[in-house]
Amino acid sequence: MSIELQNIHFSYGRVKALKGISLSIDKGATGLLGPNGAGKSTLLKIMLGFLTPDQGDGQVLGYNLRTEQQFIRRQIGYMPEDECFIPGMDAVSFTALMGELSGMPRQEAMKRAHEVLFYVGLGESRYRLTDTYSSGMKQRLKLAQALVHDPKLLFLDEPTSYLDPTGRQEILELIGEIASAKDIRVLICSHILADIEAICQQVVIINRGEVAAVGRIEDLRMVNYELYELKIKGELELLRKELEAAGCRVEENEERVVKVYTPPEFDHRQIFKAAARNRIQVRQFVRSQTSLEDLFARVVGVD
Ligand SMILES: Nc1ncnc2c1ncn2[C@@H]1O[C@H](COP(=O)(O)OP(=O)(O)OP(=O)(O)O)[C@@H](O)[C@H]1O
Ligand SMILES: [Mg+2]
Repeated sequence: MSIELQNIHFSYGRVKALKGISLSIDKGATGLLGPNGAGKSTLLKIMLGFLTPDQGDGQVLGYNLRTEQQFIRRQIGYMPEDECFIPGMDAVSFTALMGELSGMPRQEAMKRAHEVLFYVGLGESRYRLTDTYSSGMKQRLKLAQALVHDPKLLFLDEPTSYLDPTGRQEILELIGEIASAKDIRVLICSHILADIEAICQQVVIINRGEVAAVGRIEDLRMVNYELYELKIKGELELLRKELEAAGCRVEENEERVVKVYTPPEFDHRQIFKAAARNRIQVRQFVRSQTSLEDLFARVVGVD
């Protein structure tokens, strides 16, 4: 197990940022998805040992996050949300320094710095001052410095921030490649569902400091379920009762669109039959796609 957290609480003064997070993450690429202020970055900082939880405990790569922070940090690559460069330093010296700070001997750190900069596509610009880098280049450099010491686990905080669509696509491909080609586990924080869907096999959705949903992306998407959207005239509750008894899930949004998720092998004509039995008129009926977007909206309470 690469990450195990038990009931983590953390407050910044009066702001309760994390309210009892328990998690267990094994291999592959995992997305930590949540709206702004959900507590994603705080959780990463706790796992890195930069912040100490008020309550709760956990292990990262088998090390205790309260007492063995230095071992954890040696094996984790961290791409922070904000800029982390040192003014007046060129990219290769900066990357090598980050390697040294993670415990690499100087020469080896320098050698690796060149390698990772080529790997992220900054080979040509590696002697330039980081101050002169564009936003896209800065994101790549942040990724390079996270990879320099060959970490077992990579924490990426909002890796697609500040990027245009092409830049975003490129960095997602790079991360996807790292996650699948190398023997490295990746945890990506984002508030952008599409980024997580592009790279991760599993997702943890957090909202207001709590875990709202967790699972494999396919499962959460309910691949086996069909979604029908209908507008009706009549008593929804009667229809809901019948359909739920038949294994469906029924929801209504603010625009009064009724969403019916039907289990595999459910014949959608049963929806009409159930409606007719309850004297409900079906005014609109469309087959739609179940999406993670729906789930995300539902668990974070927006629609
Ligand atoms: N240094 C700090 N001092 C006080 N409050 C903080 C501090 N850092 C974060 N917070 C608060 O803690 C909560 C969680 O913040 P956090 O940065 O972990 O969220 P996040 O999910 O990473 O959000 P974002 O998507 O905006 O990066 C928010 O309410 C935030 O305002
Ligand atoms: Mg954040």
